[in-house]
Amino acid sequence: MSASGPGKTPQHIAIIMDGNGRWAKARGLPRLEGHRRGVETVRTVVDSARQLGVRYLTLYAFSAENWKRPAEEVSGLMGLLDFFLKRELDNLIKQQVRLHTIGRTDQLPANVQRELARVKEATRHFTQWNLVLALNYGAQTEAADAARAYAEAVQAGRENPAEASWERFRRYFYTAELPEPDLLIRTSGELRLSNFLMLQLAYAELVFTPTLWPDFGHADLVAAVEDYARRERRYGATTEQIKAGAR
Ligand code: FPP
Repeated sequence: MSASGPGKTPQHIAIIMDGNGRWAKARGLPRLEGHRRGVETVRTVVDSARQLGVRYLTLYAFSAENWKRPAEEVSGLMGLLDFFLKRELDNLIKQQVRLHTIGRTDQLPANVQRELARVKEATRHFTQWNLVLALNYGAQTEAADAARAYAEAVQAGRENPAEASWERFRRYFYTAELPEPDLLIRTSGELRLSNFLMLQLAYAELVFTPTLWPDFGHADLVAAVEDYARRERRYGATTEQIKAGAR
């Protein structure tokens, strides 16, 4: 957990980018047009988060359940991802942003995997700014993958179940190298977590906005960060303890 509280900038923001389909429908456009506009919002928000001093930005770009969508939409989203990675590489390098992924990326189309590997490699020496794309990600699958890796470590004698703790178990999650999110934002008015970072969000502050993802911009991110800055994070302690510097 990061040492953040009233008045502080969140170190890590996670976003459920929702509402692309509704944005398109309201304009009589195909759903993919909403996703296309959503990609432009991704660019804006990456730049805005960096400007605000947010070191980690995690975006839920494709869930493990999104394969259920019509084949045309799935291939359209994969095409947009490929386009985004090709177009943004120079910008990420210029801004010194490192790309990470979480999720079962080995099940993505080969061309997308190649682009991801290329961008990750080209940005892997950056440490200050981090963009994390959740791709073919599901928190329940992640927990199952972590349990399997942990069980193997127990069998190999590298873990002792008697010493099990979140701090040890989290090392087997896709997010092992990342701090836990301080702030979760979900756009489009839906009030759900949709299998996103369930354990990592244990102490995150939640902000839900009715704005659809393609309409989300710098001012919306600033508003969410200001809302976060007004909240007191107690992690189970009391206000008095927090004031006395217990955390
Ligand atoms: C939710 O809107 C959005 C998605 C399932 C995909 C998000 C993808 C992008 C913003 C573009 C690709 C991302 C990157 C990083 C290049 P929805 O389709 O569920 O909207 P609806 O609920 O209004 O139908």
